[in-house]
Amino acid sequence: MAISDKALSGKVALVTGGSRGIGRSIAIALGRRGAKVIVNFASREDAAKETATAVEAAGGTAAILGFDVANSTAVTEAIKTIPKEHGSLDILVNNAGVAVNGLIMRFTDEQWNKCLQTNLQGAFNCIRAASVPLLKAKDAGRIINITSVVGEMGNGGQAAYAASKAGLIGLTMATARELASRGVTCNAIAPGFIETDMTATELPEAARAKLLEQIPLGKIGGPDTIGDAAAFLAGPEAAYITGQVLRVNGGMLM
Ligand SMILES: NC(=O)c1ccc[n+]([C@@H]2O[C@H](COP(=O)([O-])OP(=O)(O)OC[C@H]3O[C@@H](n4cnc5c(N)ncnc54)[C@H](OP(=O)(O)O)[C@@H]3O)[C@@H](O)[C@H]2O)c1
Repeated sequence: MAISDKALSGKVALVTGGSRGIGRSIAIALGRRGAKVIVNFASREDAAKETATAVEAAGGTAAILGFDVANSTAVTEAIKTIPKEHGSLDILVNNAGVAVNGLIMRFTDEQWNKCLQTNLQGAFNCIRAASVPLLKAKDAGRIINITSVVGEMGNGGQAAYAASKAGLIGLTMATARELASRGVTCNAIAPGFIETDMTATELPEAARAKLLEQIPLGKIGGPDTIGDAAAFLAGPEAAYITGQVLRVNGGMLM
């Protein structure tokens, strides 16, 4: 059941990759709690606008902001504008990500770099650029990193993706320790298999059946399950939770 109190009213949240999929659900869930949500996108401005409209329909306010999380200069410049234009930056959700898949023996440097630079360096770029405004938010400052079940258990054909998501867990714990003295928390959410554009690409019937066998709850998750988890971690009730990985995976890993 979605949390719909207004505990985040007056708070400004940046959701990277908020234009589609899990990021869109997170943006809407934060909006439902009253936050002003800055919806980031890489290329799909049209989709980011749709998210912004949905955030407002859910009871929040919204703006869109395009930048590539892998480009540290672009990140710094873009994030600098948020407190100036919106008054503060209290919540950062590092959700933007790509799945670059392939067997290790054929994997190119370009594929490795694309995956690590987006999923891991991208989160670091945003944390670094947002840390000063987040420290000003003190006990309300929140960082939420979207990792993956694959970062904790690996997956054949996903070496770079698994490494990037495992690295994100280390980054989560280091950030949590570094910012704790000022009341800012940093946690990760590790989704299992969630129905989005990223996973929509041809999953043959047999592979889908095999996947379902590995999920004790017997179904693939919807993106709103991750939105609800993020709305909880972003709120005041999660103030004493930091450095943790919240697994939302139907029991796939326990
Ligand atoms: N779906 C799953 O089963 C699953 C499971 C575990 C973890 N995750 C993680 O959850 C996150 C969201 O996944 P999803 O399934 O929602 O993916 P998705 O549907 O493919 O959406 C990806 C989002 O990331 C944005 N993005 C990609 N590269 C970017 C960049 N360089 N800079 C800024 N934004 C960028 C995209 O923006 P545009 O719209 O502009 O392209 C889009 O909003 C990812 O970190 C993914 O690894 C997903």
